Amino acid sequence: MTISEFSKSQPLLLLVAGVKGAVGTTLTVAAATMRYNPEMVLPNLVTADKFPYLEPSQAIQVAGWDASEKTPLEAVKLHGVLKKDLWEPHKDELDLVQTKKPPPASLDFQGQVEQLQQDIQTFRDHYPGGRAVLINLLPACVQQDLTHCKSLSQLYSEADPTGFPDLSYTLAAILSGVPVVNFTPNEVEIPVIISEAQKRGVPMSGRDGKTGQTYLKVVLASALKARNLIVDGWYSLNILGNADGKNLMDPERAAGKLTNKTEILDEILGYNVGERYGVSSHKVQIDYYPPRGDAKEAWDVIDFLGLFGLPMSIRLNLQGRDSILAVPLVLDLGRWMVALQMAARSGLIPELGFYYKQPVGHKPPQTFQAQVAKLRELELECNQKIEADSPSTRLRTS
Ligand SMILES: NC(=O)c1ccc[n+]([C@@H]2O[C@H](COP(=O)([O-])OP(=O)(O)OC[C@H]3O[C@@H](n4cnc5c(N)ncnc54)[C@H](O)[C@@H]3O)[C@@H](O)[C@H]2O)c1
Repeated sequence: MTISEFSKSQPLLLLVAGVKGAVGTTLTVAAATMRYNPEMVLPNLVTADKFPYLEPSQAIQVAGWDASEKTPLEAVKLHGVLKKDLWEPHKDELDLVQTKKPPPASLDFQGQVEQLQQDIQTFRDHYPGGRAVLINLLPACVQQDLTHCKSLSQLYSEADPTGFPDLSYTLAAILSGVPVVNFTPNEVEIPVIISEAQKRGVPMSGRDGKTGQTYLKVVLASALKARNLIVDGWYSLNILGNADGKNLMDPERAAGKLTNKTEILDEILGYNVGERYGVSSHKVQIDYYPPRGDAKEAWDVIDFLGLFGLPMSIRLNLQGRDSILAVPLVLDLGRWMVALQMAARSGLIPELGFYYKQPVGHKPPQTFQAQVAKLRELELECNQKIEADSPSTRLRTS
């Protein structure tokens, strides 16, 4: 049996928390589109030509949970991310997407985790052989500090599942042996969760998908740093009119996202931007602006100094689409997590920093060049470990 034959027939099963949101519904349509017309999606994936031992991306299935009463098709229409000609050919399939409600609020944290574990088993029974990955696409929430929890029992008694549902989904996935992609700014990567993932051989990656403005910030900051051009100030403004944008108008919910968008610059450059003014001159602002829906716009003003300290400036205007930028990354990350689990990686995966605003794990790469290089190293590591562990190699070497 070849390595490809060994692992194929195990299609990727994305279990999405928040499956009826803007990103979740766009993901569902993208997965359906890939089955019939892969050329409309595959060219946008970074991993399209990677991981030959995985089932091709065309076989990806999507299922998951959402608090919304709408059907998946109604949710697609509600978000208005995609024009009718993109979802209409798949409307029958959209209504077949397996969705579940979140666990009832009457259950405590442990009860919610147990309920979600049962749901994961039901999804797996529906797609036998599927390689499941949890994709966290829940709304940004108010952070809960649970870093001091030393054991699962302490976590069970202290976590508030209503204010921070992400944690129940994450723990249920880990206890079920399912890798976790945390695309949200919510801090699920607390020590007790990480150690549980390590114990159970489950890889986790996060935090906060790096889709548009911050992606370009990493690229430009890395380019300025490579030329020893000194960044004197960076002003970033975003307007967006989707549910995520509305949610981020609550300062407590936006706090994590703003921190992720802000810290990254000093970390890349290796100095505090604005030090000479006594205050940070890196400013990030997010504004909810309904007319834009998912078609987000971002402006950056970058002030930098060259020879003799003479000032120069860049203006950047990104007219992006939030969910359209996000979905290829989610599809990629799902594939990465399966490959990483097959390669026996567990716990946090800092090498996936390319995909995240706030990469978690030990010493994640900061500059664009380092992030791309780490991705390549990680791919080789996966390929080597999986090849070494394949039945054909074991037969050859025994
Ligand atoms: N789109 C991007 O470019 C981007 C980039 C980085 C991070 N993110 C993050 O990804 C997440 C998803 O973004 P979105 O635009 O799809 O948001 P969204 O608000 O459209 O979707 C969130 C979904 O979660 C559902 N939900 C709420 N509570 C739930 C619960 N307890 N259980 C199950 N479902 C629940 C909601 O009903 C909604 O359908 C957000 O946290 C956002 O900050 C998005």
